[in-house]
Amino acid sequence: MEIQSSASIPSKMKAWVYSEYGNASNVLKLDSNVTVPEVKEDQVLVKVVAASINPVDAKRMLGMFKVSDSPLPTVPGYDVAGVVVKVGSQVKKLKIGDEVYGDVNEKALDHPKRCGSLAEYTAVEEKLLALKPKNLGFAEAASLPLVIETAHEGLERTGFSTGKSILVLGGAGGVGTQIIQLAKHVFGASIVAATSSKSKLELLKSLGADLAIDYTKENFEDLPEKFDVVYDAVGQTDRAVKAVKEGGSVVTIAGPVIPPAFIFILTSNGSVLDKLKPYLESGKVKPVLDPNGPFPFSQTVEAFSYLETGRAVGKVVIYPFP
Ligand SMILES: NC(=O)c1ccc[n+]([C@@H]2O[C@H](COP(=O)([O-])OP(=O)(O)OC[C@H]3O[C@@H](n4cnc5c(N)ncnc54)[C@H](OP(=O)(O)O)[C@@H]3O)[C@@H](O)[C@H]2O)c1
Repeated sequence: MEIQSSASIPSKMKAWVYSEYGNASNVLKLDSNVTVPEVKEDQVLVKVVAASINPVDAKRMLGMFKVSDSPLPTVPGYDVAGVVVKVGSQVKKLKIGDEVYGDVNEKALDHPKRCGSLAEYTAVEEKLLALKPKNLGFAEAASLPLVIETAHEGLERTGFSTGKSILVLGGAGGVGTQIIQLAKHVFGASIVAATSSKSKLELLKSLGADLAIDYTKENFEDLPEKFDVVYDAVGQTDRAVKAVKEGGSVVTIAGPVIPPAFIFILTSNGSVLDKLKPYLESGKVKPVLDPNGPFPFSQTVEAFSYLETGRAVGKVVIYPFP
């Protein structure tokens, strides 16, 4: 990858933009004349090499978070992997040429950036980024930040620790594939159980699930086993609370929130990626990319249509970029 000095950064770039709320296929347009963002003092400018998309992008595009959204037009995209081409005056660690990745929005729903990662360049706070593990390609790295940080934050919030058991609802999705791996290989779970439809059960096992439950055949709340923690990535807390041990925790990232379940919204933080780096470099924790992708930048609308089916396995990645 060629290292660019600020002198060779263009003033205009290609980016995917929407100017009104709706489905990607109706509102998301490729624009070749978007202004390259300025960097604030604590930010770096990243030349985007790969990005990934998340349900939050699609929900935000539909206008579901209108109340706390930034004004339109919007360049969507939370997850990025790329190369630093410019640094702000207060940037401490990162330098031009560094290969980085991260979730560009510190608060997912609270005024997320108007210019996200589905653009040739994006400006990101240094604290939201981490150096890309050398063993991962840019597409693999771009698949990770939002989902692995969410998986990690949820486990921490439940006080998950060695020897505890966990049931993961939605084990085959972007977040679920990381919850299974972190619970088993980072936090030292005694038992990991996870749900998916039939064709994905083997994947769950390969990631570290001891028990893979086909939700089309079995009701997880009717199992004799109860769990220390239930991590709901689907939106089934009404049933999740029946599968937890007395005194255990039910965390959801999708709601509704039936007590004693609780919900949280991710706070993006590059230091979580740094902390997990040894596990990524050793291959104990792996990126999981949907086999229908990566989708080239030009097919971002198709990538959204696929994500919106709710059937993606792991992550939908956008790569290569122009
Ligand atoms: N609160 C937060 O901070 C936060 C952060 C990240 C994500 N989220 C939310 O969490 C949810 C999951 O995100 P994601 O990125 O993992 O989504 P995703 O990748 O789109 O999830 C797709 C997967 O969900 C599985 N699935 C669908 N219905 C299921 C069911 N009834 N039981 C088990 N698995 C089911 C599908 O497997 P099958 O085809 O086998 O059904 C598919 O593989 C979304 O609602 C997202 O908005 C919230």
